[in-house]
Amino acid sequence: MNSVSRPRRLRRFLLILMAAVAVLALAIGGGVTLVYVNAAVSTVGSTEFSNELAIPPLAPSRLRPDGTREFELDMRSGKKEFRAGQLTETWGFNGDYLGPTLRARRGERVAVTVRNQLPEASTVHWHGMHVPAAMDGGPHQMVRAGATWTPEWTVDQPAATLWYHPHPHGATEQHVRRGLAGMFVLDDEVSETLPLPSNYGVDDLPVIVQDVKFRGAELDSAHAMFRDVGFLGDQTMVNGTLTPYRAVGDELVRLRLLNASTARSYNFGFADDRTFALIATDGGLIERTLTLDRLALSPGERAEIVVRVRPGERTVLRSNTLDAGLGFWTQRFAGGDDTFDVLELRAAATLRPAPELPATLAVPSTPDGSDSVQQRRFEINLAGINGKPMSMDRIDLAVTRGTAETWIVRNADGMPHNFHIHDVQFRVLTRNGGRPPAELTGPKDTVFLPPNSTVELAMRFDGPADPNTPYMYHCHLLWHEDLGMMGQFVVVEPGGAPGTPPSHHGH
Ligand code: C2O
Ligand code: CU
Ligand code: CU
Repeated sequence: MNSVSRPRRLRRFLLILMAAVAVLALAIGGGVTLVYVNAAVSTVGSTEFSNELAIPPLAPSRLRPDGTREFELDMRSGKKEFRAGQLTETWGFNGDYLGPTLRARRGERVAVTVRNQLPEASTVHWHGMHVPAAMDGGPHQMVRAGATWTPEWTVDQPAATLWYHPHPHGATEQHVRRGLAGMFVLDDEVSETLPLPSNYGVDDLPVIVQDVKFRGAELDSAHAMFRDVGFLGDQTMVNGTLTPYRAVGDELVRLRLLNASTARSYNFGFADDRTFALIATDGGLIERTLTLDRLALSPGERAEIVVRVRPGERTVLRSNTLDAGLGFWTQRFAGGDDTFDVLELRAAATLRPAPELPATLAVPSTPDGSDSVQQRRFEINLAGINGKPMSMDRIDLAVTRGTAETWIVRNADGMPHNFHIHDVQFRVLTRNGGRPPAELTGPKDTVFLPPNSTVELAMRFDGPADPNTPYMYHCHLLWHEDLGMMGQFVVVEPGGAPGTPPSHHGH
């Protein structure tokens, strides 16, 4: 009797087990499906454009007797009313959120007094600026709470839209998210001579785009489920203004786009699919004005575009779904399916006429790879660069002052990354073995790398040499940077060897 019922009991047990597994799988599958469905966000069509776009003020400056232009930046905590009646805790430079626009001319000597009035140590990095390593504001130039830092350098690069933001190792995402970022505009003879819209805040608008999420009155910085890229918000703001509009009175409007988001890439265009002119990339003016209807910017990248408006009309700067071959899962959870109405431009009934844009803009300032003395390979993934996470006391490589190099960077990961190099602007020689798209042919300091893509970059290291003070290269998805997708290089004199980075024990 027993010998007969045993297999039957076993079969019943197995059936029950299978049913339980099936129910569990359905539950998990249903949960995942729900998370998947809820992961896509869109503000397209539902944005009211109820707030006038704030324009960051131009930072006041003083000229020292020797001509040095002096700025002051105070890092402080504050409260900002993003939404009526709700005060949100923030950080900012010289104010509650973001910072003033610094502006200087090529050839000028610049000095900034940075005062850290935050409750913790931070830094200020000049993203895109060619600066001596000790002035770079990376993780080796920490400014303690209550302390002051006074970097100085001579601006020696073409006109460009650069920016500044903190760079404390392991905490950059949070410091930027709280509001510490601002623009740094450089002018030169070329930019001043060309007939381009250049009336700051009138026909030349800074457009600092960030995604944001609120929990109650406060900024929500939590990383949602499956968000390998880091924090992603559910709405965008420009210059700290939610649902912004801007009245314009000129036929041509220049937008200095800065993706100051910590993880989100945008695919900009206009809601009516009108074309616009691309005139500058990260490091300044491109060779020839380029007509586009879409332009993708990953975190840290900039572009200057010029759009034509007709009298009395409204047009919306929109971010569209991203077409970067991210794959079904990543496309959704890296934000590739999200769409945003970013900024509405409202043209006046009569517009000041603007001259036609010039067809040619600037001669290339980045090397073309032909005089590279060194080729290096970088495999990047979430575990680090070339298999190693960032270490403050390890110099990963030394470059020789005055030489050009070719860096081949490959994203060997299933998720999107990008690659930013301090101190230099580079030229994208190839992408995935072919010619890069036209919008990547200008001077760049940050380049987007979808999964399994490779770029070849050429740059020149003009110095000065400082064997002990490293510059950074890293993924500019700031959480990835914080996790250690970052490496350090020093510039040495010909024949020189790398030294030892400063020790930060006690910080
Ligand atoms: Cu925008 Cu290393 O930074
Ligand atoms: Cu940088
Ligand atoms: Cu990354």
